Amino acid sequence: VKDDEAKALAARTATAELPASGVIGLGSGSTARIFIADVGTMVRQGRAFQGVPTSEGSRKDAERAGIPLLDDSGPWDIAVTVDGADEVDARLNLIKGGGAAHTREKIVNQSSRRNIIIVDESKLSDRLGEKWPIPVEVLLFGHLGTARLLSDVGRAVRRMRDGRPVLTDTGNVIYDVHAGPLDDPAATDRALRDIPGVVETGLFVRRADLVIVAGASGVRKLIATQ
Ligand code: 5RP
Repeated sequence: VKDDEAKALAARTATAELPASGVIGLGSGSTARIFIADVGTMVRQGRAFQGVPTSEGSRKDAERAGIPLLDDSGPWDIAVTVDGADEVDARLNLIKGGGAAHTREKIVNQSSRRNIIIVDESKLSDRLGEKWPIPVEVLLFGHLGTARLLSDVGRAVRRMRDGRPVLTDTGNVIYDVHAGPLDDPAATDRALRDIPGVVETGLFVRRADLVIVAGASGVRKLIATQ
């Protein structure tokens, strides 16, 4: 329950960062879901927002909340995207993809003038990979061979749920690569993305402008310096 309160506080703090109107990127996961509900409330109160969802889950949440959505094809000029993360390091680099949505999340992040990450304080760590493996979306075609190459970077485990491989919204598989703690997340990201069959990694290097962290002692804002 404490965690949920922190997530709600982070989400509410993010709504204060939104422009008066415009295009908003809608993240995925339990924290982003609270944010989407808050945006829905603002739309009902008359704010002219349009959303770009980062997963089929957030699309459903946004539709339920009554947020008008832009076409999936883009291109979008997104004012602000608000998304969650699984791990945040001292430089505000991120591991994302706990919900297998990181490829769409990275595309939306790239299309956004400002990126805000909302987390509870359990997500903070000194070095990425201390708490989580790196989620990697891999094309189904030849994935067992791709997995061998991923193993050169770190132990690669195909993500399963209820005895079945997890598939992304695009129908690809997820490998969780245990390569942490990472001294150089950008180099690890490059090494993984070099492998044919890798669609995208969950390493978000220099992609957060502001991280809102909520915890027992309230809310903190971490601003990217670069
Ligand atoms: C999904 C993500 C999520 O943002 C991340 O997993 C955090 O989720 P939650 O807010 O439920 O902890 O990257 O791909």
